[in-house]
Amino acid sequence: MTRTLNGIVAVCPDLGIGKGGNLPWHPLRLSKDFALFRKMTSTPLVAGRQNVVIMGRKTWFSIPEKNRPLQNRINIVLSRQLKAPPAGAHFVAADFAAALRLVDSELAERADQVWIIGGSSIYKEMMESPAPRRLIVTRVQKQFECDTFFPEIRPEQFRLLPEFPGVSQELQEENGVSYKFEVYESIQQ
Ligand SMILES: NC(=O)c1ccc[n+]([C@@H]2O[C@H](COP(=O)([O-])OP(=O)(O)OC[C@H]3O[C@@H](n4cnc5c(N)ncnc54)[C@H](OP(=O)(O)O)[C@@H]3O)[C@@H](O)[C@H]2O)c1
Repeated sequence: MTRTLNGIVAVCPDLGIGKGGNLPWHPLRLSKDFALFRKMTSTPLVAGRQNVVIMGRKTWFSIPEKNRPLQNRINIVLSRQLKAPPAGAHFVAADFAAALRLVDSELAERADQVWIIGGSSIYKEMMESPAPRRLIVTRVQKQFECDTFFPEIRPEQFRLLPEFPGVSQELQEENGVSYKFEVYESIQQ
């Protein structure tokens, strides 16, 4: 069975995801976005297992130290340079395929869902993967300055679902910033 890859991201209107190593809207906090991120990435479908989060080295270090590793999840950091996991992380992998191999070998008995949590090049690899994919996208409706971007979500490759369990369809508003949640699924060829 081919494993579904789940991606989760919050984007500005121009698909910007980061600025200077942080979120574009930093120091504003979008707490309902964080809450959805935590709920979706930490809740396994199979009791007794844990979800896996796969992230780039810069995304790992963008998480405040006190919140690393992301709790109740198996944290895999991608790096071509690091030979050992950075302090607090569970695993390091030298490329995306190696991270997925780890999930299907060493972690096969305890891993549940795989969540890709950024940044740019890892999202790009996920978007180009032949595996079935699901994307949870927070559309932030205000433009902030960005230096890191999410790839285009092509309508011929991904369809927007009308609804998804556990994901609110309401427009969210916090600290003067409006945003809404969207869920996409890949259209398998
Ligand atoms: N808005 C959101 O939802 C969201 C989500 C995540 C991140 N962000 C933001 O995005 C920014 C960080 O993202 P980024 O794109 O700059 O960096 P990143 O992808 O998190 O990290 C880049 C590093 O990851 C490693 N890497 C990337 N692809 C790899 C691969 N295929 N194989 C092995 N290693 C790989 C390399 O590490 P080495 O240099 O060690 O080899 C590379 O330098 C921050 O501003 C963060 O706040 C936003």
